[in-house]
Amino acid sequence: MSQEKEKQIAVDPDLYALTAAYGVDDNQSETTSLASSIYRGVMENGRRYQTIREGAYWGPSDEQQFETLEAGHLVCLVTDSDAPNPLFRAPVKDPQRVLDIGTGQGSWAVDMADMFPNSTVYGVDLYPPPVTWMPPNCILEVDDVLQEWTWREPFDFIHMRLMLGAFSSQEWDRVYKQCYDNLEPGGWFEQLEGGCTVHCDDGSLPKDSILGQWGKNICAAANNAGKPLETLDTMGQEIEKAGFVDLHEKVYKWPIGPWPRDPVLKESGRLSYHMWRTGVDGWAMFLLTKYGMPEPWSKEEVQVYVAKARSDLQNPNYHGYIFARRIWGRKPTLEEVAAKNAKEDKEAREAKQAREAAGVKEIKKEPLSPPTSTSGRS
Ligand SMILES: C[S@@+](CC[C@H](N)C(=O)[O-])C[C@H]1O[C@@H](n2cnc3c(N)ncnc32)[C@H](O)[C@@H]1O
Repeated sequence: MSQEKEKQIAVDPDLYALTAAYGVDDNQSETTSLASSIYRGVMENGRRYQTIREGAYWGPSDEQQFETLEAGHLVCLVTDSDAPNPLFRAPVKDPQRVLDIGTGQGSWAVDMADMFPNSTVYGVDLYPPPVTWMPPNCILEVDDVLQEWTWREPFDFIHMRLMLGAFSSQEWDRVYKQCYDNLEPGGWFEQLEGGCTVHCDDGSLPKDSILGQWGKNICAAANNAGKPLETLDTMGQEIEKAGFVDLHEKVYKWPIGPWPRDPVLKESGRLSYHMWRTGVDGWAMFLLTKYGMPEPWSKEEVQVYVAKARSDLQNPNYHGYIFARRIWGRKPTLEEVAAKNAKEDKEAREAKQAREAAGVKEIKKEPLSPPTSTSGRS
């Protein structure tokens, strides 16, 4: 992991030869927004939000957001295009019941259902997905995973992706516990998260630029909301705490823009650029207008900020990237649970015997009765 973190992405010199008189090229055109005027849910500051639970999630659910999510889906697939299966890394061979939490527009769930036609893939989110066709073995549901889960049979694979900042720390504990409880023994859990702080290895992105400060500002607002965005840094510990074993991780650098020399990273950078260009408004609007620091920002302030962020994104000389992390782990099998319990019982017995051998007596567990008066007076 640390090796991965330290590896610097090589810059493509040809990019600059080809775009010597750099203007805004096709990759960076602002004209492709698919934002639609048909909205459902509740409108706020020009964006549509889910209505299942007020303020449940900071991201909008509208056409523009779906475009961002689709670009994000492609970034994930391209980045892992060298893997036998770009959808997940857990050693899951023939899943029967799969759940995708916070499925968004359901791209992962649909691809998964296509790849495993014998499985049933459930996707759940706070709003109805904007899909008109799904494979018959894919079921997309509207629900809040913080409520009691209603699926009756356990899953053999549960997946989550880009859920950063969706929950408070206590809520994450609850969600991971629900995942654990709703998996078959031996079933797998996997989560892929991206960060929101833009890093740069060659000093090309000024630290005081809007993009250089982006993560700090947005994270401060999310912290203020009680739902930190650095999920990729905290999830490992929380997944382990929930009881998952056999944990693995893979760390990625996701470049923003087509600046890397490596063709896979170049393609992923192109897609990431698209994800960011369409995403920044939605990522900033809710958080900064409600929880911005030092006080909530106005819609207009956010719009100006976002326009400046887009302008930084269009600067081809900025070699920015974010970190992403994938973690997968397994619910222990029944045999493993039995062996663990037996080991713990044995250790407890041995500790008790050692205490007794040393003449240490256990104090009675019942509460001591309150001291009675000895003065003889009543
Ligand atoms: C950034 S999107 C990621 C979507 C999808 N996983 C992907 O990778 O394209 C996060 C999703 O989590 C959903 N979400 C947040 N809180 C949720 C909750 N309590 N129950 C169900 N879905 C939730 C949001 O509505 C949003 O669609």
